[in-house]
Amino acid sequence: MPELSTPRRVTAPAIAAAKHGDAPLVMVTAYDAPSARVVDAAGADLILVGDSVAMVVLGYEDTLQVTTDDMVHHVAAVARTRPGALVVADLPWMSYHVGVDDAVRNAAALVRAGAGAVKLEGGRKRLAVVRAILDAEIPVMGHLGLTPQSLHTLGGFKVQGRDLEAARAIVDDAIALAEVGCFAVVLECVPDAVARLVTDSVEIPTIGIGAGRHCDGQVLVFHDLVGLEDRIRPKFVRQYADLAAEATAAVARFAEDVRTGRFPSSAETYHAADAVSDALRVYGGSASEHAPA
Ligand code: KIV
Repeated sequence: MPELSTPRRVTAPAIAAAKHGDAPLVMVTAYDAPSARVVDAAGADLILVGDSVAMVVLGYEDTLQVTTDDMVHHVAAVARTRPGALVVADLPWMSYHVGVDDAVRNAAALVRAGAGAVKLEGGRKRLAVVRAILDAEIPVMGHLGLTPQSLHTLGGFKVQGRDLEAARAIVDDAIALAEVGCFAVVLECVPDAVARLVTDSVEIPTIGIGAGRHCDGQVLVFHDLVGLEDRIRPKFVRQYADLAAEATAAVARFAEDVRTGRFPSSAETYHAADAVSDALRVYGGSASEHAPA
């Protein structure tokens, strides 16, 4: 009898338990079915449907422009591919800032769209919201350091936790998120010494982006990693492919082939049977005889 293999299905508790695992965790963003298939086939542990979709896919200047409905649309596209990786969905700006009930309803909408967990930005300030979402049985991932939804209060996309007081605040926020029950926390754009202290201070995995090597995992934005977004290139991005250049060259070759008559070829064309073609030619001739001058 053939051996039945169970499909890979990563869960939030499994991610939490991977704090002391053999290898660092891998998280990559995806916002649609093709990118989700690529990320899952590459073996990522987590797929983040990030609100970065606003900037890398929808062309906005920041992440503040996307709504829960936008996120639901993208989460559903990713979830339809039935990835083995855990799908984590970002709660967008203003979806958890105006009330706990509202936050729980928005988190539930993301879960109904196919997410296995949600991520939200902020530390001790957001504990009530985190607690309420956890009470609704939805796993929560924290996000500290550079929190892009706070762009205007932070004064731009800047490295956070550079002085002692700010660094301590990040550590205390991470401890509070871990204690309340978050299963993991993203650390974005903080000095590596701060990331190291956070990683050593909490029993949940830290997943870094621009936070150095002393994290329990790393995350990159899909479009940065494969070279589809090359307008902004922070120093922490390692680009593994140049898909924008390859795609531009491919479209330019198509345009050239169309303009020079090399596309489509006979093999790329549907042909009618000879008898039908002949009859059409005769019909075409008689039709042109009756056409108005
Ligand atoms: O939205 C996003 O892509 C993120 C990552 C930068 C962690 O939150």
